[in-house]
Amino acid sequence: MIKPDRAEVLRLLSVTDKAELTQLFQRAYEVKKQFVGTKVYFRGIVELSNVCKKNCYYCGIRSGNSDVERFTLSKDEAVTSALWAYDQQYGSVVIQSGERDDAQFVDFIEDIVSTIREKSNHELGITLSLGEQSEETYKRWYAAGAHRYLLRIETSNRELYRKLHPADHDWEYRVNCIRTLKRIGYQSGTGVMIGLPYQTLEHLVDDIMFFYDEDIDMIGMGPFIPHEDTPLANALPEYNEAEHLDLALKMIAVCRIVLKDVNIASTTALQALKSDGREMGLLAGANIIMPNITDTKYRGNYQLYRGKPCLDENANLCRGCLEKRISSIGEEIGYAQWGDSPHYHKPDS
Ligand code: 5AD
Ligand code: SF4
Ligand code: FES
Repeated sequence: MIKPDRAEVLRLLSVTDKAELTQLFQRAYEVKKQFVGTKVYFRGIVELSNVCKKNCYYCGIRSGNSDVERFTLSKDEAVTSALWAYDQQYGSVVIQSGERDDAQFVDFIEDIVSTIREKSNHELGITLSLGEQSEETYKRWYAAGAHRYLLRIETSNRELYRKLHPADHDWEYRVNCIRTLKRIGYQSGTGVMIGLPYQTLEHLVDDIMFFYDEDIDMIGMGPFIPHEDTPLANALPEYNEAEHLDLALKMIAVCRIVLKDVNIASTTALQALKSDGREMGLLAGANIIMPNITDTKYRGNYQLYRGKPCLDENANLCRGCLEKRISSIGEEIGYAQWGDSPHYHKPDS
């Protein structure tokens, strides 16, 4: 894929005129059709635990928030959820949690991954989204059967990263994790938050260049949504949901237009801003949906941002609801398939 042109990316991200926006989304949709098709692939998300050792200033489950009741699923609960997704022919699951790197946690994940793998006859795809870990840990989890990893860089700009995190959260280390994951052989996913405090359009251009330079296979990004119990609760005095949504959709569209064959998720945060936000994401170029399959009794305590949808809807309801949403825009679900990013090539061994 040829390197995107910065000026062109900036020009596309700057579109605000309604008619031009519609054109931009249509153009992205054409590129999507050509490079990845119009099948939507599901990744059932298991929110494994809201225990986190980090303290990101934007996040509702940061360690400094004492108003959250902390939970961790049992192995049995996690495996049962994943196998439910397998029975529903979801093709693949994502195990996500707050960040922990103690030996007990590393063993726990390894055990869960190998059990899911075995009980799904090695068919269910397993993606991990468990933050920064040592190379050894990443290797163990890969050997246990995980084959994709999501680690959002949050922003490709070091200075902006520093403003949004405590001093001991290290941007360089995070980038190195992404590189290590690729080297091990994982399909690598990253992403950013869009509409962050202090973020400019130039930063978003840099984010897209970062995805290109790091040769990323999968992109998961969504609008920043303030959470009341965080230091950034009031950091955007002019916060406007409609504008935020448009900006996030533009990022999806421009990524599709310039990066072409990567997988792009239409994330839940889009739906927090507008009830049909995820459909809009698909129409702007995204091709992946991550239905929440966590038991409703835990969902309320996994609120990273305000207004997260589907808190009371169980996995079955979400499934039916998403099926309707997807068919309403004339797309089809790629059941029982991994739906790998066509961009991914296994590293030479
Ligand atoms: N708004 C939007 N996204 C958020 N995340 C965390 N807090 C927020 C927020 N307030 C995202 C981060 C993280 C992912 C799991 O959730 O990008 O990587
Ligand atoms: Fe923890 Fe992730 Fe939230 Fe940061 S964004 S506090 S690492 S759960
Ligand atoms: Fe969860 Fe509609 S997507 S209930």
